[in-house]
Amino acid sequence: FDVDWDAAAADKGGWSSFMAKEIAEDPQAVEDTIRGRITDGTVRLPDLEALSDEYFRDIDRILLIACGTAYYSGLTGAYALEQWTGVPVAVELAHEFRYREPVITERTLVVSLSQSGETMDTLLAVRFAREAGAKTISICNTQGATIPRESDSVVYTYAGPEVAVASTKAFVAQIAAIYLLGLHIAKVRETLTDEEIRVETTEFQTIPDKLRETLTHHESIKELAGWMADTRSVLFLGRHTGYPIALEGALKLKEIAYIHAEGFAAGELKHGPIALIEPGQPVFVMVPSPRHDNGLHAKIVSNIEEIRARGAHVLAVAEGGDASVMPYTEAVFATPPTSVFFEPFLKVVPLQIFALELSTAKGLDVDQPRNLAKSVTVE
Ligand code: G6P
Repeated sequence: FDVDWDAAAADKGGWSSFMAKEIAEDPQAVEDTIRGRITDGTVRLPDLEALSDEYFRDIDRILLIACGTAYYSGLTGAYALEQWTGVPVAVELAHEFRYREPVITERTLVVSLSQSGETMDTLLAVRFAREAGAKTISICNTQGATIPRESDSVVYTYAGPEVAVASTKAFVAQIAAIYLLGLHIAKVRETLTDEEIRVETTEFQTIPDKLRETLTHHESIKELAGWMADTRSVLFLGRHTGYPIALEGALKLKEIAYIHAEGFAAGELKHGPIALIEPGQPVFVMVPSPRHDNGLHAKIVSNIEEIRARGAHVLAVAEGGDASVMPYTEAVFATPPTSVFFEPFLKVVPLQIFALELSTAKGLDVDQPRNLAKSVTVE
């Protein structure tokens, strides 16, 4: 009696690929990253013991540095981080940062983001920042990796091992860790009131379940990806936190489906990218909730009208029940309602699934895309 035993297949727990399994673990990744760190409506990060409250009160700039998907998590997390803490935040690619003689002082906090904790470009940027006198915090998914060991402090993400080369669950966990850090600093600096922190942490705790709900649309996204298997180019548009999500959606498609894909800030359309729109061009649009009081929903709807008038096929990622985009779209992927800063957790999921299913429809190796490595340990 022979059992055809394949250890890798067993690890996939019945999923067709590690990436499929890891997308399904998005909710758990966020849940495990915030577990024990949000209690009684506030954030507790004993991880940051090495950095005193005085230190956080004194910083005058935060720099987020990373590569690849981790860079996009930084771009996404920066919106809330700056607003909550009142500290100016910049986000930079680690390899660019190090070679441009940046101004760093002892009041600069440098936060690195890395799933593996071994990315050489990011590690060298951390060393560079420390030598220049900055304190460094590592947001990392791998216990005891080089980057956290060489940083002043570490806030681990608990996404669990990520095997697929294209990062998915680590991305949402990284945003969660940036938010925990942001709420901690806001508490220390008193830039948010206890009540405001309670409101944010309460919403934060709903995100794992809202991610589970978002994942239930997997089949309809798969169907769309199946129809689009011959697509040669896909554009992604977003504003505010939807913009880095658009960039990440485009990166996922490049990485595993080998499709030319670009993300744009929707407000930038009229300054150039609209020239790319021709009949049949698929465009994913991240639609912010109409309930948010920032005027962005109306702006996005008008962008959708503009590209639609030029023949684009619009695929919207929008809040469930938002009927305003229906007349202009080929498909709408619904996400549960949430507040402004928590939208990106939910909006990225359909894009992860889309890339997975398009790659699968093209018969490609989802987990091991050509030319890429999970962890790049050379400069
Ligand atoms: C490689 C991987 C990407 C990853 C990037 C940063 O390029 O292919 O998926 O986002 O490295 O990796 P890190 O481990 O530092 O998050």
